[in-house]
Parts: sequence; structure tokens; C-alpha cells
Amino acid sequence: MATLLHLKSSIFGENGQSSGLSNTFVEDWRAQHPDGNVVVRDLAAAPLPHLDAVAVGGFMTAMDDRSAEQAVAVARSDELIAEISGAEVIVIALPMYNFGIPSTLKAWIDHIARAGVTFRYTENGPEGLLTGKKAYVFAARGGLYAGTSNDTQTPYIENVLGFVGINDVTIIAAEGLNMGDEAKAASLSTAHGQITALSGTLSAVA
Ligand SMILES: Cc1cc2nc3c(=O)[nH]c(=O)nc-3n(C[C@H](O)[C@H](O)[C@H](O)COP(=O)(O)O)c2cc1C
Repeated sequence: MATLLHLKSSIFGENGQSSGLSNTFVEDWRAQHPDGNVVVRDLAAAPLPHLDAVAVGGFMTAMDDRSAEQAVAVARSDELIAEISGAEVIVIALPMYNFGIPSTLKAWIDHIARAGVTFRYTENGPEGLLTGKKAYVFAARGGLYAGTSNDTQTPYIENVLGFVGINDVTIIAAEGLNMGDEAKAASLSTAHGQITALSGTLSAVA
């Protein structure tokens, strides 16, 4: 039974465009995987705390030597890592806020990128340990950035996913959503068309 982890971070909840696009994909996936398991983590509705010295200190301290505070912080990270480790498919809804990814999503990344757990350092450089997964990213942006150096999101999300071992990443972006009703409708229609095409390529597992 395949598991899909759906990460949302729109401050507009289910009305967010990234939520809408990613929901469409997840519904398609669910239809093709009736026995599949979908885990939803809404990072805007239930934000994680910023990574801090307590958490990082806890990561670097042997289990039995951790303070109570460190143990709580490590348990939070462990839970998030167990969630992504248990999923074959990762779906990320990716709004653009102030030229970057939502801070709530960044906080999640900070809790799951953990040396010795989700990546390790080797003689040949860092090696990601969350292998064998596919990621699908659904970006929503008010302006136009794709293919330019102002696209701070796509290279970043690919880098960070690759760093933890997830190299099979598909990105669909709906852009120009704040450039008038016509541009918005055209962009969403194109993105939904891309999702339909993508859904047609899904395998039995992922
Ligand atoms: C606080 C805020 C900041 C935003 N910053 C940007 C921005 O820097 N660049 C941009 O193209 N659009 C920006 N937008 C527009 C959003 O990218 C657009 O509304 C998109 O649909 C957000 O995704 P969501 O609907 O899933 O929340 C911003 C919107 C908000 C509310």
C-alpha cells in the first residue's frame, strides 16, 4: 500500500491556489490508488516552531543525555522524519510569499534535514538517505519567474529535496495569478492541464 505525504503551506488554507492544484493531483492519485494512504500536514494551519539551539543541541546529544527540552525537540523532528520516511510520494504545495517559500515550509525543512538521519557526510560529500521517493511540487505565484534567476523557489526546493535523497522531482507552476483575471484563469487552466497529463503517467506504486 503506497503512502502519499501532502504538505500544504498556503495562508489561505483550502482557498489557496497551491492547495487547489495539489488537491487536484492528490485526488487523481487517490483514484488510481484506492488502497493508498494519504497523510496531510498543513504547515500553515499548524506551524512548527523555528529550529533552535535546543533542537540542534538535542540532535547532537546521545538519547540518554538529552535534557527534557531537547528530548521534546528531537521527538518532534523524529515524528516529521518518520512521516516523510513512510511515504513513497511527497506532494508539496508551494505558494510564493515575498520572493521565497513560506517560512512554515522552511521550518519543516529545518526539522527534517538532519545529519546522520536523512543525510550523511561521506568522503564524496553529502549523501541523501530518503531514497526511492518521488516528489511533486505545485507552485503558485502572483508574478512571472519560471526560467529566470528570480525563481528562488524551484532551484531551492530541488536542491534541498536532492540533499536528502529525493531526486525524482516534478514541478508544475501556476504563475501570473495576480496579473488580472484573464491571466489567472489561463495560468490555472494550463496548470490543471499539466496535472491531468501528469496523473496519466502515474504508476501503480507512485
Ligand atoms: C503575503 C504575500 C506575499 C506575496 N509575495 C509574492 C511575491 O513575492 N511574488 C509573487 O509573484 N507573488 C507573491 N504573492 C502572491 C502569491 O504568490 C499568490 O497569491 C499565490 O496564489 C500564493 O499561493 P496560495 O494561493 O497557495 O497561497 C504574495 C502573496 C501574499 C499574500
